[in-house]
Amino acid sequence: MARTAQLAEMPWFGALDRAAGKLSRQVAEALREAVRKEDIRAGDALPSTRSLAASLQVARGTVIEAYEQLIAEGFLESKAGAGTRVAQALAEPRPAQEPRTAARRAVKACLPERSQTFARIAKEFRPVALVPFAVSVPLGLTAPADTWRRLGNRLRAKGPGAPTGYADPLGALPLREEIASYVRKSRSVRCEADQVIVTSGTQQGLFLASQVLLDPGDQAWVENPAYRGVTAILESMGHRDTMVRVPIDADGINVEAGIRMAPHARAAFVTPSHQYPLGMPLSMSRRSALLAWARAGNAWVVEDDYDSELRYQGHPFPALQGADPDRVVYLGTFSKVLFPSLRLGYAIVPRNLTDAFCGARVLMDRHPPTADQHVLAAFMAEGHLERHIRKIRNVYAEHRLQLIETLGALLPNDLAWLEPGDQGMHLVLWLAKGTDDRAVAELAARRGVTVRAVSPMFARGTGRPGLILGFGGFSNAQMKAAAQRLAAVVNEEAKLAKRRTRSR
Ligand SMILES: Cc1ncc(COP(=O)(O)O)c(C=O)c1O
Repeated sequence: MARTAQLAEMPWFGALDRAAGKLSRQVAEALREAVRKEDIRAGDALPSTRSLAASLQVARGTVIEAYEQLIAEGFLESKAGAGTRVAQALAEPRPAQEPRTAARRAVKACLPERSQTFARIAKEFRPVALVPFAVSVPLGLTAPADTWRRLGNRLRAKGPGAPTGYADPLGALPLREEIASYVRKSRSVRCEADQVIVTSGTQQGLFLASQVLLDPGDQAWVENPAYRGVTAILESMGHRDTMVRVPIDADGINVEAGIRMAPHARAAFVTPSHQYPLGMPLSMSRRSALLAWARAGNAWVVEDDYDSELRYQGHPFPALQGADPDRVVYLGTFSKVLFPSLRLGYAIVPRNLTDAFCGARVLMDRHPPTADQHVLAAFMAEGHLERHIRKIRNVYAEHRLQLIETLGALLPNDLAWLEPGDQGMHLVLWLAKGTDDRAVAELAARRGVTVRAVSPMFARGTGRPGLILGFGGFSNAQMKAAAQRLAAVVNEEAKLAKRRTRSR
């Protein structure tokens, strides 16, 4: 006997217009709209294709086609035995229930200024949905191989990764040895394992460097624009007024300008291999000038080398550290080449600074969790990391070209254009003057697309609107669909910007 399909209860699903074109497209759009309006939320189960088709009085194939399209876009996910659900990745982290405004203001007023700064920073650093164009999402071909899981199972149960007491604050020696050998070979960094401090990522390396190298009142050079993770550290640690934002041009940080602005700064925070976010490498003459300035004034250079493994043409510039290992604190991370939730990176510091970094590290969190350090050491020792990097380099090179092509076809040049570059795992898409890039990023998030606004990375009053687009491990279909939605948002925001200009 044929089963009678149960009717799905979905009052928000409007009537389909049979004269208005493909029904599966209308079903897909209605579901996207329902997610946007939060009629259904991340993780919610959808009705079976059979019951939705029965409720809408359409063929089951129509609903299957709509579901398949949304799965390809990353909007829905389907697991054997669990049916089809709205993708978890679309979950927008919800702020905790906030007290009434007046009460909130009163509570805020008695908080130390520093806590207010940290609270503002927490908002900026809320995790984003892991959909296109989030940066460094390990999916598909960019996810670490099964070897990672196998080594983890083996080493966490027995051997060096098994539970122990407190360990060396500098990190597990086998990992420090692997890191030293890897950066010597791949980045021409000059170091031994005793100079390597395993961190929980470059974010912590930047924090340690600012604590160890800067006394109250010391000036520090920071690129303009720069990674918010570094400017936010300095703002929150009492260096807001002593942070000197040095301009960037086609050769990277303008050292002459830095010397004019703050000749006696104590440290320079730079991204010489791949300026963040714009992408150009620091030229050879600027490298020499930067190191000469640091030597002459007894200053330190903090080199954030976050993604130089991912270069697609020619050879990468060697690390700046190799040119003067006594002046440079070198920071590296496994977030880009492996995955960010690993929370492992490294600081390589001049010998006379290792004790200071070690002390600061102990007070912060003693040391990183031991088990994953041993898993990573084995992963590197057996050659898996180098193989993985070779593989993802090919994947990213292809995704990058595809994204450039897709955006070029969707967005006219007067509305949005790409910053040239040939490295890394993100692109900068500049937006026309007057566009509110934060508004674009917020609206895009509501439509299931993750982008970061560029203007907050500039010093106040110098910003330009733009977006950071990561090309992660997403499929071509997901990236295409997201690019279309993003193009629609950019167009809408550009119209608003025009209206704003006219009404002024
Ligand atoms: C320029 C730059 N530096 C540092 C970091 C922080 O990396 P980690 O995950 O190792 O803390 C990032 C992450 O996006 C980055 O883009």
